[in-house]
Amino acid sequence: MSTKSTDNHSGRPGSATASAAATVANLGPGYDVLGLCLSAPRDSVRVERTGSGSVELVAVSGDGGALPRQPHRNCASVAARAVLERFGRPGDGLRVWLNKALPLGSGMGSSAASAVAAAMAAGHVLAPGVARLELLDACREGERLATGVPHPDNVAPSLLGGIVACVPRGGEAVEVVRLPSPAGLWVACVKPDVTVRTADARAVLPETVPLADAVRQLAEIAGFVGALANGDLELLGRSLGDVLVTPYRERFIPGFRAACDAARGAGALGAGISGSGPTVFALAGDEPRARAAADAMQAVFGSRGHRALVTVSVVDPSGARIESSAPSG
Ligand code: HSE
Repeated sequence: MSTKSTDNHSGRPGSATASAAATVANLGPGYDVLGLCLSAPRDSVRVERTGSGSVELVAVSGDGGALPRQPHRNCASVAARAVLERFGRPGDGLRVWLNKALPLGSGMGSSAASAVAAAMAAGHVLAPGVARLELLDACREGERLATGVPHPDNVAPSLLGGIVACVPRGGEAVEVVRLPSPAGLWVACVKPDVTVRTADARAVLPETVPLADAVRQLAEIAGFVGALANGDLELLGRSLGDVLVTPYRERFIPGFRAACDAARGAGALGAGISGSGPTVFALAGDEPRARAAADAMQAVFGSRGHRALVTVSVVDPSGARIESSAPSG
């Protein structure tokens, strides 16, 4: 019996397209732990199941030619390969097309969105119905490729949606905890036209921290999670303090402090670095204040000679999604 007829009996699609959105990781005090999913922009990945036994990266678009085309060096094909290795049947292979919508090196989880879209599409054609949490480790392989570390705080929210905490559970294992997302919470993201490589932004961080700083950070996290649980947006805005990471990274972002101040002055609850930057995010209690905060931050960057890209979004509760799929043959 051919692979194709077997698949027709078992219902595996022959191809699928999935999309996955930008994310804001760290969220102030939650370095490598907290993240939330935006509704846009979204990368999309099409995969086609083959009988080649290997992964081929057919095309990459929307990146201006900046991303690697070799399958072992691209986050999307690396994540697809990880899904193939875990869920594929003997002889299964994949062809992969990546369409980028996220800006590269933005701190909005660009590599994560590509990896998550690829893993979702690959999971759909190799093991339809697989629980999306089962794809998390494959997505993290994309992050390992991009940054040297399989940090989960972008891929987990992009995959699952909402606001999540990634709790380390020994070795590289993490337990992903979904946190409540208060009604009315909006996110403004403004990316100045500077590039920050996540690997560089990680390299500047100290290996050890003073106990007093760790305690301060724990208190901010407690405030943050309590604010989500109680739907207390004002407390949420007061709980974005970060003494462990931001002080070392803000030098990469021209006008960072002024941008945060401008966002708060325009009505935002609070602000901070999105992921490893250079995007600055602000949380707001409604869309008008989110847009006003975005405008204010954009003006700060503009006054320093930097063009800036604006994204204003709610927290997306759904995460990655299958956009289309087709039977084999
Ligand atoms: N937690 C990661 C970091 C997110 O801050 O390095 C990267 O977007």
